[in-house]
Amino acid sequence: MRNLINILDLSIGEIDSLIECASDIMENPERYSSECRGRIMGALFFEPSTRTRLSFTSAMMSLGGSVLGFDQAGSSSVAKGETVADTVRMVSAYTDIIAMRHPKEGAPIVASEVSEVPIINAGDGGHFHPTQTLTDLFTIKKKVGRFDNITVGICGDLKYGRTVHSLISALARYEGVRFVLISPRELAIPDYVKSEFLREGAYSEVCDLEEAIPSLDILYMTRIQGERFEDKAEYERLKDSYILSHSKLAGAKPTLSILHPLPRVNEIDVDVDSDPRAHYFDQARYGRYIRMALILKLLATKGVDDNRARGETVPNMRCTNPHCISKTERGIKKLFSDGKCIYCDQSAKKDS
Ligand code: CP
Repeated sequence: MRNLINILDLSIGEIDSLIECASDIMENPERYSSECRGRIMGALFFEPSTRTRLSFTSAMMSLGGSVLGFDQAGSSSVAKGETVADTVRMVSAYTDIIAMRHPKEGAPIVASEVSEVPIINAGDGGHFHPTQTLTDLFTIKKKVGRFDNITVGICGDLKYGRTVHSLISALARYEGVRFVLISPRELAIPDYVKSEFLREGAYSEVCDLEEAIPSLDILYMTRIQGERFEDKAEYERLKDSYILSHSKLAGAKPTLSILHPLPRVNEIDVDVDSDPRAHYFDQARYGRYIRMALILKLLATKGVDDNRARGETVPNMRCTNPHCISKTERGIKKLFSDGKCIYCDQSAKKDS
């Protein structure tokens, strides 16, 4: 069995094959229309979604399969106090593959420990969103043509933006990729992403979007994630930090690609939508095809194929992340590896 929890669960070669498969599906959809006949996907969305949930649904239906699930935690027995583990254990008895979104970081790891079928992380809190990254990479391949030797500006909420964390970890594996990280200081990239994935000299952190634009091959805009702020007054203060407009693109390269995982609030003005460099709606459209390729790959994997570090219990050690699944899920072991929580990757602290 094969899960997709973190984009790094896939090698560069596997990502290339998924992109090749997605391109073939786009050109020849009829060849794939019965590939999943009789198969069922569980779509467990404990948090709102438009693109991810509906593109997974469309992907499974386009492969001839069916989908069951829920689109809010309140319509499942979670509302009665059921754990993530028990919910997934049950749904895995009714389905062949599960795509799951959860507000707690590391919830898909808990799911993968008990599931009888492959688990796909469709977004866990402010942590990771690997299938958005597959969509982003497919878009970059189609619009830019390469992953190496590019300057990628990532702008907005780099602290809570899970798509940002997964995209950085994926692109950092290629030669000559330079990141310009554009955010208010309060929403800078978390230390665990920096220390795990970013090499000294391969990135800069700036606050000014317009100054950064002329050097970029890709500008990846993101929404300020209001739902993740503990302090709503801080959200109000930061929510309009960046608004990309047509006039701000005056110094941009003619070959720039403007991406956004969506949904947008106001960080890209609608007057940018008609710019030929704006690719975010194509990006969302490609999500259906790359998810079809992913479903086919995971369902085709026989035996156990999961080399994830399991971690160990450490006396008096605790995860410092209040959004980690280990804080709320009953009955799971608190596990650590190299001083980090294995569920959310954030630093752990040893109490004396
Ligand atoms: N990009 C993305 O995850 O969008 P949704 O929240 O609508 O699924």
